[in-house]
Amino acid sequence: MRKPIVAGNWKMNKTVADAVTLVSDLKLDLADLLGVDIVVCPPFTALKSVVDTVSGSRIYVGAQNMHWEKSGAFTGEISAEMLREIYVHYVILGHSERRQYFGETDEIVNKKTKAAHAANLKPIVCVGETLAEREGGNTFAVIEKQVRGSLNGLTKMELTNTIVAYEPVWAIGTGKTATTAQAQEVHAHIRKLLAAISDDTTAQSVRIQYGGSVKASNAKELFSQPDIDGGLIGGASLEPRSFIEIVKAALK
Ligand code: 13P
Repeated sequence: MRKPIVAGNWKMNKTVADAVTLVSDLKLDLADLLGVDIVVCPPFTALKSVVDTVSGSRIYVGAQNMHWEKSGAFTGEISAEMLREIYVHYVILGHSERRQYFGETDEIVNKKTKAAHAANLKPIVCVGETLAEREGGNTFAVIEKQVRGSLNGLTKMELTNTIVAYEPVWAIGTGKTATTAQAQEVHAHIRKLLAAISDDTTAQSVRIQYGGSVKASNAKELFSQPDIDGGLIGGASLEPRSFIEIVKAALK
């Protein structure tokens, strides 16, 4: 009943020209694909050109961050309204790199998540434990704190329109993927938490993506798990062939 969703997080990569080339290649293969939601998240500088390039296809565009205020004296920031104005539909929030290098807390992620919904942007809210937290046996506690904190106070409708991305920090860019069993276990835990903060029907409607060294070779097995509804792809989304294969691996 949940439509899988695969998103490419390009991080701080691609010039405008390279972004347009990549997304033009994706469009050739994926323009009419049904059965999976496809999102690309280029850097801010390439958003408008990528939106123009995917026009008329089923590929959606997301940003990698935003501020929670609508406008004002916030040098260097971009608001949800500004993203909506150029037909961006998704936004990644609380990625572990933002939490780690830019001091984003659950409280900040929560404010951004609410602001995204207020502007009709779909947030992809990232959670995940570090290696030390996993080895210390704290994975579930860390995930619970992040899920409850980041999604605090959302309505059931807003929760349904939120995508949660489980990205174990130790699996990001390291080539170390969580085993399917490890990933499914945390995804099921997240869904249980969602039911606790809303209700079972709402929890069943929320898409939960896995992220962390997803490749064409491991995507199918990960996406076949009952609580894994697609992926958030870093490195493998920078090259058309691998991203296209990963998107197709999410087809039921
Ligand atoms: P990699 O796919 O490069 O491990 O990155 C995952 C990620 O951080 C996506 O947001």
